[in-house]
Amino acid sequence: MKLLIAFAGLLAAAYAVAPSTSKVVCYYDSKSYVRDSQARMLPLDLDPALSFCTHLVYGYAGVQPDTYKMVPLNVNLDVDSSHANYRAITNFKSKYPGLKVLLSVGGDVDTEEAQKYNLLLESPQARTAFVNSGVLLAEQHGFDGIDLAWQFAKYKPKKIRSTWGSIWHGIKKTFGTTPVDEKEAEHREGFTALVREMKQALNVKPNMQLAITVLPNVNSSIYYDVPAIINLVDIVNLGAYDFETPDRNPKEADYATPLNAPQNRNPLLNADAVVNYWLQAGAPAQKLILGVPTYGRTWKLDADSEIAGVPPLHADGPGEAGPYTKIEGLLSYPEVCAKLINPNHQKGMRPHLRKVTDPSKRFGTYAFRLPDDSGEGGMWVSYEDPDTAGQRASYVKAKGLGGVSIVDLSLDDFRGLCTGDKYPILRAAKYRL
Ligand SMILES: *[C@@H]1O[C@H](CO)[C@@H](O)[C@H](O)[C@H]1NC(C)=O
Repeated sequence: MKLLIAFAGLLAAAYAVAPSTSKVVCYYDSKSYVRDSQARMLPLDLDPALSFCTHLVYGYAGVQPDTYKMVPLNVNLDVDSSHANYRAITNFKSKYPGLKVLLSVGGDVDTEEAQKYNLLLESPQARTAFVNSGVLLAEQHGFDGIDLAWQFAKYKPKKIRSTWGSIWHGIKKTFGTTPVDEKEAEHREGFTALVREMKQALNVKPNMQLAITVLPNVNSSIYYDVPAIINLVDIVNLGAYDFETPDRNPKEADYATPLNAPQNRNPLLNADAVVNYWLQAGAPAQKLILGVPTYGRTWKLDADSEIAGVPPLHADGPGEAGPYTKIEGLLSYPEVCAKLINPNHQKGMRPHLRKVTDPSKRFGTYAFRLPDDSGEGGMWVSYEDPDTAGQRASYVKAKGLGGVSIVDLSLDDFRGLCTGDKYPILRAAKYRL
């Protein structure tokens, strides 16, 4: 009997630690180093996450406008001897030998002279300068490869019909026919060439990987020639989130990151549609990694907002910034979680947000609070929590995809403020793979 129990225990242990082949790609946004107090994340804070991650993606390097070289965006933080974060991050490999650390470029944070991402693709010389400098930069600091989070033009946000309809109509007449990117085809070809050239340069080095990240609201079918590039890249990170954001859609709050299309919405604006595009274009499922955001998108509700809170609903721009991240329209997961409770109903504190879960597990969770009598304090937030992160991971498993990416670690609850567990979103996703 004892033996049997011991054997059963052994078996259970073996299952528990059986290595899953699924990838967990963890993004680290180095901007978090300069945030305030609770939101300030140092490289050391990554440690509790790294046993769950197969890849760590350092975001972000940029492109130097005139030379088209790939360069650190924050020299002082990234490479100077005082901080040397590149090195601090790649040094984690000695503690986590299986970890692949990639240097990512772009990521929607390299906004100075944004046209350079297009211009670079149009010029073979610029591409060569970029590739050579990028490989050198990655190699010098001990990275295992490069991730191209290319800043392509984004498709236009959907038009919102409202009392402002007539004005919108006028604006549409003026700008409506202008293509977002007049040289789409050229940029698609240029990117294919860039991937090929980058792969060639990395191939010369031992064990260097090449990843691409498709940023939110970039139309994959326009810019990514899947058959031409898929065999050249190790993984494709699909930024299939932020379909609706307060910056793009200030007057309408809606699910930011639906897994499937909610009723009466554009059938292309959800994670499943992005995944299916890549699959039907011929990408092996195992190369596709689905993004899981660790934050909420917030809108301000006003007197015109439908009081039931059911999306889509009228909104009045981005919700107020969180106490720590201090970015309008965004709350980190621990900031959302703090707003869901107000334990003492303290006077002077705003009431908590009411959470509405989605039993269908297809659209996401939201929480909201109507404005008070003076019209202040209304908020609506669409966010991911451990439950929805787990649902995305289950989807990944059911579809046979390669894994999940966590975007990003600095906005997950890395201090364990919500329940005491550090990195609850990362953990929830990992456990469901
Ligand atoms: C992406 O581009 C295709 C044409 O290549 C178009 O049919 C589709 O509607 C676009 N998707 C979005 C979300 O704009």
